Amino acid sequence: MRFFVDTADIAAIRELHELGMVDGVTTNPSLILKSGRNIAEVTREICEMVPGPVSAEVVASDAEGMIREGKHLAQIAPNVTVKVPLTWDGLKACKALTDDGHMVNVTLCFTPAQAILAAKAGATFISPFIGRLDDIGLDGMELIADIRRIYDNYGYETNVLAASIRSVNHIIECARIGADVITAPPAVIKAMASHVLTDKGLEQFNADWAKTGQKIGL
Ligand code: G3P
Repeated sequence: MRFFVDTADIAAIRELHELGMVDGVTTNPSLILKSGRNIAEVTREICEMVPGPVSAEVVASDAEGMIREGKHLAQIAPNVTVKVPLTWDGLKACKALTDDGHMVNVTLCFTPAQAILAAKAGATFISPFIGRLDDIGLDGMELIADIRRIYDNYGYETNVLAASIRSVNHIIECARIGADVITAPPAVIKAMASHVLTDKGLEQFNADWAKTGQKIGL
């Protein structure tokens, strides 16, 4: 399973990248706002650090505008993946940009039907949003499982990039289902290392070790 980090925070990406945990990065207009950075500058900086795909999102609503913006973003670095929304115009832009040799991530996917169209338009990645479906009382994980099954049924090569991940359980369930990639905020990835029994066990070991009066390497 590939790990993408869902942030434009350079320091947070670097910390995970240095541990070999970053296979790519995803950003969106909200994350660019949060970073306080210029999209071209921060995307370039991320691409210089991370060799894997780095998603940068267009904001135009018409296909022509998306293609123009997508080509502009793709010039920033060879590993830029152009992110387009799952609208009819977004699908047109996906087709044109992939035909032009660019990687495309089709985002804001909420149904298997949308995911089928993205695959047929040649998307490199489809981004189904788990958390936002859960937010409205639907089952985000069911969407991941449906898309995985449908793509496997027909051998679609589009990568399932599970997005809007809010918890460690989301990541584990995606791994069980066989999502190709997850993109998660740095805090959720770091939370994968935590367990209350690890903390409790360590506390006990430290307490017992102190009683031995020993030191290692001295
Ligand atoms: O990058 C898009 C997606 O991961 C957003 O997640 O938590 O804002 O729904 P969220």
